[in-house]
Amino acid sequence: MIELPIVTQPSEATTYAAEPQGEETATQERRLYIETYGCQMNVNDSEIVKGILRRYGFRPTDKIDQADVIFLNTCSVRENAERKIFERLRHLRHFKRKKEDLVIGILGCMAERLRKDLVQKEPIVDLVVGPDEYRKLPTLVQAAQQGEKGIAVKLSRVETYDDIEPLRTEGISAWISIMRGCDKFCTFCVVPFTRGRERSRPLRSIVAEVQRLWDQGFKEVTLLGQNVNSYRCPDTQQDFADLLAAVARAVPAMRIRYTTSHPKDMSDKLIETMAAYDNICKYIHLPVQSGSDRILALMNRTYTAEQYLERIEKIRSIIPHCTLSTDIIAGFPTETEEDHQATLELMKQVRYDGAYMFKYSPRERTKAWKMGDDVPEEVKLRRLQEIIELQNAISYEKNQELIGSVEEILVEGPSKRNPEEWQGRTDGNKVTIFPYDQNLQPGDRIYVRIVRATSATLFGERVDQPH
Ligand code: SAH
Ligand code: SF4
Ligand code: F3S
Repeated sequence: MIELPIVTQPSEATTYAAEPQGEETATQERRLYIETYGCQMNVNDSEIVKGILRRYGFRPTDKIDQADVIFLNTCSVRENAERKIFERLRHLRHFKRKKEDLVIGILGCMAERLRKDLVQKEPIVDLVVGPDEYRKLPTLVQAAQQGEKGIAVKLSRVETYDDIEPLRTEGISAWISIMRGCDKFCTFCVVPFTRGRERSRPLRSIVAEVQRLWDQGFKEVTLLGQNVNSYRCPDTQQDFADLLAAVARAVPAMRIRYTTSHPKDMSDKLIETMAAYDNICKYIHLPVQSGSDRILALMNRTYTAEQYLERIEKIRSIIPHCTLSTDIIAGFPTETEEDHQATLELMKQVRYDGAYMFKYSPRERTKAWKMGDDVPEEVKLRRLQEIIELQNAISYEKNQELIGSVEEILVEGPSKRNPEEWQGRTDGNKVTIFPYDQNLQPGDRIYVRIVRATSATLFGERVDQPH
């Protein structure tokens, strides 16, 4: 167990701004603009932040030039993610020059990782607030408007924001964090340091939130956690499979997804629960990271390639057409050509529908940081390229196999490229494009026969029947 960082400024004695009584009592309306980077947990956290600040008269805006407060909710997982934020801060300088009392805050994982360095390095930053300190934002923003910089980066063992109603923008799909933190300590990963220890929300409150979302018109929810298989209800000790079943039963017409599973804890019970409910999507994101046992051990992933493949077999025996995706890292310290080949081999064996593929990026404080970063950049890049090319070919083949089949699509709205076409997703999470039809509404469930496919997208036409 690592020591929790204890850095909190303004001091512990800071009194929180008195919460206004009722929703709309704050005297002056101020506008809040948030840009969100990183994973879906950050997306949901930004909604939580909006939920907290709305009670103090802050209205979300998507117009940055009208904002009184600008937050960047940041990610630290790879160096590139952080580089993007520093670039973004440079662009924000002229907003600060134009509007003296504009408050600029860094939230999220980078705030947690870099703390006061951020304020020192970037004079335009007024606030640095880590993922477990968002309740202090109203007070900190108030102080920042009077010129006082604020840093609040203490991690908590209990904070889950369970009582905060996230302020979601309209849509049909909602994210729900069911737990926070991660105790796995994969040796390459910064998340256990930026997000702290694992803690779960009560099952009853998650089920109630899903029910409320259904009543508000949402048609799909994704239950979120860095490692959802570790979910444990603090009141009843029920596990993640119990939670999934409870949600599926409570709202039978809601499409239910979840992410992310750790292969070590992908239990038979969870796979069987997925199979038992029609409204739980048959899609599993199961990050493998590497196909080499030696590298998996150095990564502290706690499974071998064989054990991983056994889980995949089990999934396919219980849910034959389950869509599968993964995460892969190329160029972990000491990775040899042989290790790399083992990764390609595993990919060929599993034949994932999709993958998120990354070049290893050393992160300070992690165990892998101390292993050095000995795979040369050009070797990393070449290996990553080989992994991407192989995956693209497999994704393409797998999507070709779907041509002629009929898929149930949850309609999202106009496609990004062409407003004459609409898009939605299959149960297996594949983006599907179909012609616009004036009777269509976002949130409809329709059947689409697949007529064409690329490695990333399915194209189809609407049909009346599932067969
Ligand atoms: N909790 C999830 C995801 C964590 S971050 C899980 O356990 O799978 C998402 C992905 O980023 C990881 O799965 C990993 O593939 C990648 N990643 C994390 N740290 C990285 C690093 N230092 N360099 C490159 N990729 C990294
Ligand atoms: Fe990072 Fe591993 Fe935790 Fe995922 S399970 S967040 S990769 S430490
Ligand atoms: Fe990034 Fe933090 Fe998510 S490091 S991936 S935003 S948990």
